[in-house]
Amino acid sequence: MTVLVTGGAGYIGSHMVWELLDAGESVVVLDRLSTGFEWAVAPEAKLVVGDVADEDLVGSIIRDNKVDAIIHFAGSIVVPESVADPLAYYENNTSKTRTLIETAVREGVPHFIFSSTAAVYGGAGLEPVREDARLAPESPYGLSKLMSEWMLRDAGLAHDIRYTALRYFNVAGADPKGRTGQSTPGATHLIKVACETALGKRPFMQVFGTDYPTPDGTCMRDYIHVSDLAAAHRLALQRLRAGGPSLVANCGYSHGYSVLEVIESVRRAFGRDFEVKMGARRPGDAAAVVANSDLARAELGWTPQRDDLDQIVADALAWERILTGKNSARG
Ligand SMILES: NC(=O)c1ccc[n+]([C@@H]2O[C@H](COP(=O)([O-])OP(=O)(O)OC[C@H]3O[C@@H](n4cnc5c(N)ncnc54)[C@H](O)[C@@H]3O)[C@@H](O)[C@H]2O)c1
Repeated sequence: MTVLVTGGAGYIGSHMVWELLDAGESVVVLDRLSTGFEWAVAPEAKLVVGDVADEDLVGSIIRDNKVDAIIHFAGSIVVPESVADPLAYYENNTSKTRTLIETAVREGVPHFIFSSTAAVYGGAGLEPVREDARLAPESPYGLSKLMSEWMLRDAGLAHDIRYTALRYFNVAGADPKGRTGQSTPGATHLIKVACETALGKRPFMQVFGTDYPTPDGTCMRDYIHVSDLAAAHRLALQRLRAGGPSLVANCGYSHGYSVLEVIESVRRAFGRDFEVKMGARRPGDAAAVVANSDLARAELGWTPQRDDLDQIVADALAWERILTGKNSARG
């Protein structure tokens, strides 16, 4: 049995590949390398460079490797980009996921795990959000993912395929062993941006809004360590293989940190100050987005191991230093 990881050369997918290999799984990665990197794929995994919508290619990967599960990370992930070019997001995230599901059904792959997002909920309140909260995506990105969830639901009712859709909150940190991390140039994730600023890769960073109805006035998010997220997928795979029913579950820690708390944590980890400019709110940012993760804990038996902002930041900063070395070695 082999697990097909789409997008396995990207940030989260490359951690998943290590998680699976560490658990003794056989892994094949399919990635078109649009934002991912060949070097990010663990050498023990087989990498096929191509598109998830290439049905012939995916079909032959499934048959040649006896794939029994697909973990589907491949997609486009930048929310403002999805507002500027919605059709590209519906194409890459929704249409191509439809084709991939169709190929999985045709080839008889029984298990499918899908990267969904907290963006399916739209503007959340200060309370942790449960899976049965109102679904109201505020961007084409969020809607492109919600439509994929719904296609999976309907395909699961009509065909012999069971799925788990995990709705990630703010994924952060890096492999504690330093094997992979967030490597996308110009990434907009707060912890990544703060680490880049601390290391002098950016002259300063900006805080967007200091007048939100939160304890210190800045936005609060639920930051989940990427290794805990990968572990949740491995447990979801185990559960599906054991015959568990389809599931949609949040992945977060059920508590949030403010932008200023994150910046303070990066300052502590770096041991020096860096320039932070306070600015106006950005359109579309909710005051707080925090998961209720009771369902993932109960259904998957998921117990996060790295629920500690300072550890997330330390791992992210360590990776940022490794990345600096890799980039300068490449010239
Ligand atoms: N990073 C987060 O905080 C976050 C939060 C919620 C959900 N997600 C979801 O998790 C998944 C992975 O995100 P990430 O942060 O690792 O992004 P990423 O950009 O690092 O990884 C995506 C990978 O998919 C590949 N890819 C894109 N389109 C493809 C296609 N059509 N065929 C083959 N390969 C393709 C890219 O080359 C890249 O390697 C995405 O689906 C994203 O929507 C991420």
